[in-house]
Amino acid sequence: MKKTIVIYGSSTGTCEGIAEKIGARLGAEVLNVQDMTADVIAANENLILGTSTWGAGELQDDWYDGLKVLKSSNLSGKTIALFGCGDAESYGDTFVGGMGELYDSIKDSGARFIGSVATDDYFFDDSAAVVGGQFVGLPLDDVNEDDKTDGRIEAWVAAISPNL
Ligand SMILES: Cc1cc2nc3c(=O)[nH]c(=O)nc-3n(C[C@H](O)[C@H](O)[C@H](O)COP(=O)(O)O)c2cc1C
Repeated sequence: MKKTIVIYGSSTGTCEGIAEKIGARLGAEVLNVQDMTADVIAANENLILGTSTWGAGELQDDWYDGLKVLKSSNLSGKTIALFGCGDAESYGDTFVGGMGELYDSIKDSGARFIGSVATDDYFFDDSAAVVGGQFVGLPLDDVNEDDKTDGRIEAWVAAISPNL
């Protein structure tokens, strides 16, 4: 298996906990985006990137500096899978929008994106993370549906693993 790292941005710990679970299942290193450097990106072929959503559909704050690092790195040939934490009940119009912003910022980087997810199992009004009828990565609503989180992670990791 090629080298894989899970990188997350988290303000109150939810996305951090999710990242730890994904990292444990993949047997991959887990890193706070605050500690992400160009060397880290260069050293890993598979990037599993996660953000929570803040404001109205925006990236978790630490990702703004993280994006600068990503954009100045050569992502061509890398494989990227995204996950996002949100709250579909309180923020149904901007559900996991941060994941959509992350995707938009790097979608033309030459990386291969894997791990899109069907919208069927989610109740929300609108999301910038839905592209072509599917979520661009794994959405997790740990605020209202924490009972579904482990199963969603397990199914998603099983789906992406053969492509890493
Ligand atoms: C002020 C505020 C704004 C938020 N905005 C959104 C939003 O637009 N869309 C969404 O899906 N979740 C939104 N959320 C929910 C958070 O993304 C959710 O609580 C998440 O689990 C926080 O993860 P973290 O602790 O890793 O940062 C918001 C939460 C707060 C408190």
